[in-house]
Amino acid sequence: MKPQRIISTEQPDAMLAQLLGEIDHDRLFVLADENTATHCIPLLRLPQEAHLITIEAGDENKHIETLTHVWEELSSHGATRHSLMVNVGGGMVTDLGGFAAATYKRGIHYINVPTTLLAMVDAAVGGKTGINLHALKNEIGAFYPADVVMVSATFLGTLDAGNLASGFAEMLKHGLISNADHWSRLMSFDFEKPQLDILQPLIMESIQTKEEIVKQDPTEQHIRKALNLGHTLGHAFETMAMRRGTPCLHGYAVAWGLIGELYLSHLREGFPTDTLRQALQYIKEVYSIPDFGCKQYDELYELMQHDKKNRGTEIHFTLLGGIGDIHIDRTATKEEIFEMLDFVREC
Ligand code: GLY
Repeated sequence: MKPQRIISTEQPDAMLAQLLGEIDHDRLFVLADENTATHCIPLLRLPQEAHLITIEAGDENKHIETLTHVWEELSSHGATRHSLMVNVGGGMVTDLGGFAAATYKRGIHYINVPTTLLAMVDAAVGGKTGINLHALKNEIGAFYPADVVMVSATFLGTLDAGNLASGFAEMLKHGLISNADHWSRLMSFDFEKPQLDILQPLIMESIQTKEEIVKQDPTEQHIRKALNLGHTLGHAFETMAMRRGTPCLHGYAVAWGLIGELYLSHLREGFPTDTLRQALQYIKEVYSIPDFGCKQYDELYELMQHDKKNRGTEIHFTLLGGIGDIHIDRTATKEEIFEMLDFVREC
């Protein structure tokens, strides 16, 4: 896979203008959703000839019809194999825009400008692009990294506290799979008074952790599975909440998933009690605890069995023996999984 440049900037307008000068292209296309078109595009210095494609916001619109609209806009406005796309938005825009770039004329160059914390530290980096197929998330896609990911905490100024916390959950995951120093810097980030100047270096550290793993295993054959920590249980919580008609933000489900999977790590791999307590305390304060009871255990178990990371009906987890001590492709018995759910519920 081609390497991806990650650029951190406090002046996204000037930096984008510089990048547009550096990357050879004939026509320029900018993809935004209706929110980023209003709030983020004005923060960028787009040349007059840029053609803006606006799509409806929300993961429920990350489907083939929206993608077809983007392809048609590219085609009807004369995009060639030498055109450049700039995706400005959260994970929905960078995933769909990346996939449009991967597939239009068998691949054109593109830049990601993530505008949410979740997209900065996860969706927009690492080269995964794609769309949903009906209820199946990211079912259709390609590994196709952006030429550049331009990261600026400036965009987070208007992000609400829930979405900030949601992105931070993926940063907690990156801290847990990297090293104790990184983890302790995250533990000292004060969510009561979030400061963007303190957050920006933490974001870059987080992206670097992900990039190092992706570089070793771009197509998720082995170590990239480390990035699934917290997600086996997290995805089950997320789907259950959606089925109940009370959807939760992705990162909240991941944070709750982390509590359970760190407990399982403790049970199976000897993950230290003090770090488990510390993570639990932080997550409880920022994300509270999900509302579920014993009656939902079978449903959660069944959802975990259907996770696309599994082979057959065995449930696969990424677990830790300690911070940075990654154990991929671990399984657990139904009793252990129910004990994990007891732990999350009772904490
Ligand atoms: N979001 C996990 C990954 O990119 O592999």
